[in-house]
Amino acid sequence: MLTLADPDLDFFHVPVMRDEVLDAFDEAPAGAIVDATLGGAGHALALLEHRSDIVLHGIDQDAVAMAVARERLTAHADRVHTHPVRFDAAADALDDAGVSEISGFLMDLGVSSPQLDHADRGFSYRNDGPLDMRMDRTRALTAADVVNGYDLGELIDVLRSYGDERHAPRIARAILAHRPISGTAQLADVIRDAVPAAARRAPGHPAKRSFQAIRIEVNAELSILSSSIDALIARLAVGGIGLVLTYHSGEDRIIKDRMRDAIDGNAPAGLPVTTDFEWLWRGAHTPTEEEIERNPRAKSARLRAIRRTRRADG
Ligand SMILES: C[S@@+](CC[C@H](N)C(=O)[O-])C[C@H]1O[C@@H](n2cnc3c(N)ncnc32)[C@H](O)[C@@H]1O
Repeated sequence: MLTLADPDLDFFHVPVMRDEVLDAFDEAPAGAIVDATLGGAGHALALLEHRSDIVLHGIDQDAVAMAVARERLTAHADRVHTHPVRFDAAADALDDAGVSEISGFLMDLGVSSPQLDHADRGFSYRNDGPLDMRMDRTRALTAADVVNGYDLGELIDVLRSYGDERHAPRIARAILAHRPISGTAQLADVIRDAVPAAARRAPGHPAKRSFQAIRIEVNAELSILSSSIDALIARLAVGGIGLVLTYHSGEDRIIKDRMRDAIDGNAPAGLPVTTDFEWLWRGAHTPTEEEIERNPRAKSARLRAIRRTRRADG
């Protein structure tokens, strides 16, 4: 069994915009709150300590994160249920637990610091590791399959769509020319050498966008996002609050669209539009300069929030 004493489980993730998340959940009714991206349980622990009237349902597809989260939450074990699944299975997990309505949900998207820092997970362009990048290591597709198996067009598409990488064709051609690529350090070098000199001198590692793009492809991060947030929004009780932290424009666009769709409502032609939801605030909240200084990984975070105001079908 995994324990916190295990050196592999040196799993520490500073929760992003923690105080804003707690303040927003202050307005949620008592009941079940879903943390769909439990990770190191930073937000979850803060929330359980902050609200004695909530029960937490924690979801994560990463077995290591889940083991650590369970340990970290032992003091509140009677109010914690864990579901080791991908969050597109949240509705089934909640059904199995007998939970039909929830008071809130949080999605803190992307990877956790420990996933990035542990080179053996293959997420890091800074430390050499295997081309893996799977959050759920039981799934088949790995970064090696993408890097060494996708054709030129597929690679360009992944780098452009999920990394906003303007040098996608050059990078994809370089990857093809160096196959088989054996690890993350070699991949980072190939990408660095492929981009124009000016891009190499720009702030940030030149492989950052490509690594992000490959990770999103491996974990199907964007393709399951719309249906997953729709399912969680649908479960909100009246007064229930949904919060999502995103870290890049692709995922933020999807979250904004899905929340806006719920808020704008719909009605058959000729009937007045009805809506069961409202923005908790307009636009996205972002971290303070002080938080970014303390935790540079918070830099690109955007926090959006939705509230159910009534349940027309209830
Ligand atoms: C940014 S971390 C969350 C950190 C957490 N809020 C904390 O304070 O410790 C994101 C976590 O979500 C998990 N995750 C990402 N996408 C997921 C998905 N589709 N289904 C389940 N878990 C997911 C990752 O494995 C990772 O542990």
